[in-house]
Amino acid sequence: MSHKEYIYLTPMPVRIWHWLNALGIVTLCITGLQIRFPEYVNIFGTYKSAITLHNTAGIVVSISYGLWLFYYMFVAGTLAKLYVPNLEDLKSGIFRQAFFYFFNYFLGRPNPHHSTPDNKFNPMQKAAYLMIMLVLLPLVILTGILLMNVSPLRELILIVGGIKVLVSAHFLIACCFFAFLFVHIYLATLGHSPFAHFKPMWDGWEEVEDHH
Ligand code: HEM
Repeated sequence: MSHKEYIYLTPMPVRIWHWLNALGIVTLCITGLQIRFPEYVNIFGTYKSAITLHNTAGIVVSISYGLWLFYYMFVAGTLAKLYVPNLEDLKSGIFRQAFFYFFNYFLGRPNPHHSTPDNKFNPMQKAAYLMIMLVLLPLVILTGILLMNVSPLRELILIVGGIKVLVSAHFLIACCFFAFLFVHIYLATLGHSPFAHFKPMWDGWEEVEDHH
């Protein structure tokens, strides 16, 4: 007989941050496309309105990132435990998980990782989220702040290599976010049902897979 068991995986502050951040990043990507390629993309009317929306979304993403960091570091205190891969993850866990996504998943074999509130990410998620949340997001925010304040922060901009270096770095990181979005959404659908991993991002609770 099968019975459904649920675990509380995603606390409310993380859920609010996640969807606000997702909306912000998607807005940044689309407005960014118009700002970078105005001759091909015109979704938000004038060039100026695309820039205004881009800057506003950037500020929303930056503030919510600060709150996310504060929450995981000082309220939940689980940033290192959840987001930093351990030696075992790096030596074999990442490869086992990749093998599941590329091969075993299509044979209907079970996911080698079982989420618990103390270990909710598989080794690939840990590596990807660590890179996104603690390297790329802070970098895109910093380069964005510099680009929004070119004249007052002139000296700092020269130290990091000038405006061209800054614009290129900001654009390259944005491309990483673009690529991440597609992979992230696709991999999120590979639970025991296509929306199994979406449910805890909505109400916090994930259904535990029945292995019997
Ligand atoms: C429309 C866009 C997005 C959708 C549909 C989406 C969907 C999801 C889903 C279903 C999960 C839970 C399963 C999992 O961990 O894979 C998740 C978690 C997560 N997503 Fe997204 N996501 C989106 C955008 C983003 C963006 C733009 C970022 C970062 C820049 C991001 C970062 C994360 C992180 C860090 C987690 C883990 C949260 C935690 O439990 O601490 N997501 N996302």
